[in-house]
Amino acid sequence: MKRRPRLPSCERILYGADYNPDQWLDDPAVLREDVDLMRRAHVTSASIGIFSWTALEPEPGVFVFDWLDAIMDRFAASGLSVFLATPSASKPFWMSERHPEIRRVGRDGRREASGGRHNHCPTSPVYRAAVHRINRELAQRYGRHPALALWHVGNELQGECHCDLCKTAFHDWLRQRHGDLDSLNRAWWSAFWNHTFTDWSQIPTHDPSIDALAVDWLRFVNDQHVSFLENEIAPLREFSPDVPCTTNLMGTNRGTDYWRWARILDVVSNDHYPLHGDREDSWRKSLSADFTHSLMRGLAGGAPWMLMECAPSSVNWGQVNKLKRPGVHLQEVLQAVANGADAIHYFQWRKSRGGFEKFHGAVVDHEGGSNSRVFRECAEVGRFLRSLGPLAGITPERAPVALVYDWEARWALESSAGPKKGSNGDRHTEACVEHFRALRLAGLDVDIVSVDADFSAYSIVVTPALFALAGETAQRLARYASAGGVWVATYLTGYVDEHNRCWLGGFPGPGLREVFGLWNEEFDCLHDDERVRVIGEIFGSAGETVATEIVERIHAEGARVVATAASEFYAGSPLVLRNAWGSGSAAYIGARLEENGCVAFYESLADELGLHRDRLPRGVVRKTRLGADGCAEFLFNYTRHPVAVDVGEDTYFRVADGRSCRGKITLRPYDSLVKGVVPAPSVSFPQTPVSSSHELAPSPLPR
Ligand code: GLA
Ligand code: ZN
Repeated sequence: MKRRPRLPSCERILYGADYNPDQWLDDPAVLREDVDLMRRAHVTSASIGIFSWTALEPEPGVFVFDWLDAIMDRFAASGLSVFLATPSASKPFWMSERHPEIRRVGRDGRREASGGRHNHCPTSPVYRAAVHRINRELAQRYGRHPALALWHVGNELQGECHCDLCKTAFHDWLRQRHGDLDSLNRAWWSAFWNHTFTDWSQIPTHDPSIDALAVDWLRFVNDQHVSFLENEIAPLREFSPDVPCTTNLMGTNRGTDYWRWARILDVVSNDHYPLHGDREDSWRKSLSADFTHSLMRGLAGGAPWMLMECAPSSVNWGQVNKLKRPGVHLQEVLQAVANGADAIHYFQWRKSRGGFEKFHGAVVDHEGGSNSRVFRECAEVGRFLRSLGPLAGITPERAPVALVYDWEARWALESSAGPKKGSNGDRHTEACVEHFRALRLAGLDVDIVSVDADFSAYSIVVTPALFALAGETAQRLARYASAGGVWVATYLTGYVDEHNRCWLGGFPGPGLREVFGLWNEEFDCLHDDERVRVIGEIFGSAGETVATEIVERIHAEGARVVATAASEFYAGSPLVLRNAWGSGSAAYIGARLEENGCVAFYESLADELGLHRDRLPRGVVRKTRLGADGCAEFLFNYTRHPVAVDVGEDTYFRVADGRSCRGKITLRPYDSLVKGVVPAPSVSFPQTPVSSSHELAPSPLPR
């Protein structure tokens, strides 16, 4: 197999931002100053040209590259790298006028206006040809330019189009998948409500009453995006085979199965805006951010990934656009590095003077220079990242626990009416994030993997709310358990097959009743304010926890009952069960347990298996990052309060002030400590003062 080009970092963590020189072409002094400011902020790289199509091709077939030539040359001369973007995320007005069919059509059949962005038809051959052509021009001209380090393909590719072209392509896709109409009607259970199709042309792109259609449509749209991306990448690979290609992903975005996308990318990159908020429970958001970072690590298959966009301060699109409190930004950046990121890029370098995002945080404010709090902080972050160079090149070690995130299961669950939707309709992601957090709170490290992963090296595999389960996947998981693994499944497991048809013979299907030693007869949905008591010895001295939202009524069929419902008419019915299976076991948690209950379950499981658990106060997290030339241990206080911890005899550095500390120390709110190859920097991050008698003097600092 051909070796894919790798991330250009090698010896350093890349640091930079989206940069839009095309907005400032009338002001060359600004452009000159930008490079100077970038150097002062320890920037290594910038993504350029993301929304520049009209600046590059003002008329059909007329290309203007002089401004980009100048920027590329200036970057090369300054030792800066360019992530050169292809401009497909926003199409020129002249093109939309000439070819209205490149504009997206909504579910209501109306074609959108040309404005906005991220709104092309992914099927349109005209648009695909135009994209191929501009990319070819860019690749021919810059493919060997010394500043070029990476292709940044499009931007946040997403969304769906319901035009006639897409509809016809959908029908072709369905023919490929199902063969003939009879098979499709059987797979879709079409006799229901008289939905039997007698001609392909009758099949709509949207009908929420046909829940199998909904899932196939999402699969199709995802495939269209992937082939759109392949079309974009082809000319780039032709003219610059050694330059890696990425496109910026959006975490757990709904309509995009990134496990498929990752297969065609050289490097995985993500946009991430955690909207921290500085609330009492913000530490949970930080753990959720760890979930997203772990997902990226999983998508990258063990290689380093890039944080392609994050906010250097506040965003402008939240309901409450809060400034990040002292420590938060630094911590968010280091958190990504600890989780395997080899690049930290911001949206955006310089605030635009006008337009929709003029108030979005940027490294350079409207004031224009380096004299802002945000600039100074970003420059300190950049300088500190330089000292983390030895960490680049390799990601953290494999964790003992794998957690399966599966877009197809999510689509099937979301498309099914019932059982009870989550606050955003997405119970699969909710369950995955909650179980991830519980595992981390139990002191266990977690990898996020796809359903197709090789599970054999993991001590525990957790599959939260794996609602849709194909027979073959169920067998693979069962084989993993019987070979000595521990498979943990939760409520909403194994209800439907790949066509969103319920498994017959009792849940969990297919064949999993025997593996888990239970029958999930029916499910109860609770009002938002209702709780069901759950009792069991694993829940510590209190011996109980509560369940919310979804509670299954389960019968043990050979499994050992670990916890039962203690209220409601089904009091006494099993909710947490363990079953021996081959040389391993299978565990089932048949309700949405509150956090403490879930944590207790994983603590007792880990202790039983003899797994190492990090025993830290709630909200304090340790993460080890391996690198090509070293290894570092990060210790984060995700909470807004000082927390006392004992770090033992090892010396840690508090990144915010470069002080070293050991033994019993008090972590400041949002504190970040590092131990390992990393030298302590002399920095001046804004801080929330907290006194600690155990701090030592600041250490001497290598620069
Ligand atoms: C997205 C986009 C960027 C910008 C940011 C703002 O991630 O890719 O162009 O709009 O959001 O947060
Ligand atoms: Zn379309």
